[in-house]
Amino acid sequence: MENFIQIQEALNQKKGLVKIHGWVYRERKQKDLVFLIIRDSSNILQTVVKKDKVSSKEWEDANKILIESSLELEGEIKEDKRAVTGYEIQVSKLNVINFAEVFPINKDQSEELLLDNRHLWLRSRKLNAILKIRSTVFGAIHEYFRMNNYYEHQSPSFTPNACEGGSTLFKVDYFGKPMYLTQSWQLYAEAVIFSLEKIYCIAPSFRAERSKTSRHLTEYWHAEVEAAWLHFTDLMDLAEGLIKHIVKTVLEKNKEELKILERNIDLLKPTLEKKFPRINYDEALKLLKEKKDMPVKWGKDLRTIEEEKLVTLFDTPIFVTHYPKEIKAFYMKEDEKNPKVVSCFDCLAPESYGEVIGGSERETDAKKIEERLKQQGENPKNYTWYLDLRKYGSIPHSGFGMGVERIIAWICKLDNIKDAIAFPRTMVRFTP
Ligand code: 4AD
Ligand code: MG
Repeated sequence: MENFIQIQEALNQKKGLVKIHGWVYRERKQKDLVFLIIRDSSNILQTVVKKDKVSSKEWEDANKILIESSLELEGEIKEDKRAVTGYEIQVSKLNVINFAEVFPINKDQSEELLLDNRHLWLRSRKLNAILKIRSTVFGAIHEYFRMNNYYEHQSPSFTPNACEGGSTLFKVDYFGKPMYLTQSWQLYAEAVIFSLEKIYCIAPSFRAERSKTSRHLTEYWHAEVEAAWLHFTDLMDLAEGLIKHIVKTVLEKNKEELKILERNIDLLKPTLEKKFPRINYDEALKLLKEKKDMPVKWGKDLRTIEEEKLVTLFDTPIFVTHYPKEIKAFYMKEDEKNPKVVSCFDCLAPESYGEVIGGSERETDAKKIEERLKQQGENPKNYTWYLDLRKYGSIPHSGFGMGVERIIAWICKLDNIKDAIAFPRTMVRFTP
């Protein structure tokens, strides 16, 4: 058989002879009929094999078929309101490519079993829908930055330095010397902007997170941007534009997938329509105290629970800005009016998905950077090349990083970030 079309194309064709290939999603055997629901990457479709319409070999094969067997078939497609996607193929030719063994996954299984069988569970409609949305999200990020004339640049994944503090660094044995897996592309990006000015990247970042939360991976995909001459307010505009572009693109391209995931898309619409509120850390503490009865001591970072309470007050992502210097990274620029805080933001997603983007204007004063490194227990000597950037034509510049799986988890409204990536890596989950 040749000239196969995808199931979605067959559905669009509505009638006539079609040839498809795929996998058996469900099967039901009766005396003279075998119903096979077939899936491919595009959709699912009911087919029926009738004993008197196929050869005896084909009929025997149809009766041996278990789910996830692969096959090719040919037949007449016609509308059938009772069928799962509204159409049915009456099979006239059937060729089984592989008779599957009993599939280890059936209904109502635990999350852990599904994760153990992740290599097989990826075939589910849920994961198929999420992975399609994930593909759209990656495409939209590239599109957004290229549209805005950013160059794509890559930094190394092996690094001798910490970017986001030593506590979440993964150490690796580099020919007998200690090295680390990168937490962020940023420090190298800060060197590259002196050549390319506006750059971005999507790459894996690594965090030795000891937390078993629904938001943390040890390896996640990080979309980062760095730009020369860019100041803090424009940086937030850039971040807001990125989120809006991603959500808009997914709403345009993935209606079917969002339906499969039962995502209430009305909750995503304000993100497109409204400007994201920008509140500073002090205002955030005030809101938490007054509206949520949750006092936070000035100088403490917001915990998950506090972020969750805060975002219930809004229906779009929000920017929380100007956190205390002590709880933020060494490279963030001291605020001109208040040296106790830095020109940084965390962008928090609605519906309890937490921080999806972290960004800041960068400190240009080498002395201040050295002091901050020392305070954080780092040796400024290890950052000599980074400090050089402040000596030769230093400029104002800013950047941010977005956790791509966090954005996907929010857009798809997933219970756990692990479902936003095909093969998740966490402290306790690293197989298959
Ligand atoms: O806030 P973070 O640590 O910022 C940076 O790494 C900066 N160097 C970025 C930059 O300015 N270029 O991380 C950025 C984002 C977070 O907002 C979060 O969305 C995501 O990365 N992230 C994680 N996502 C999944 N699992 C983890 N363990 C994550 N840690 C951070
Ligand atoms: Mg952060």
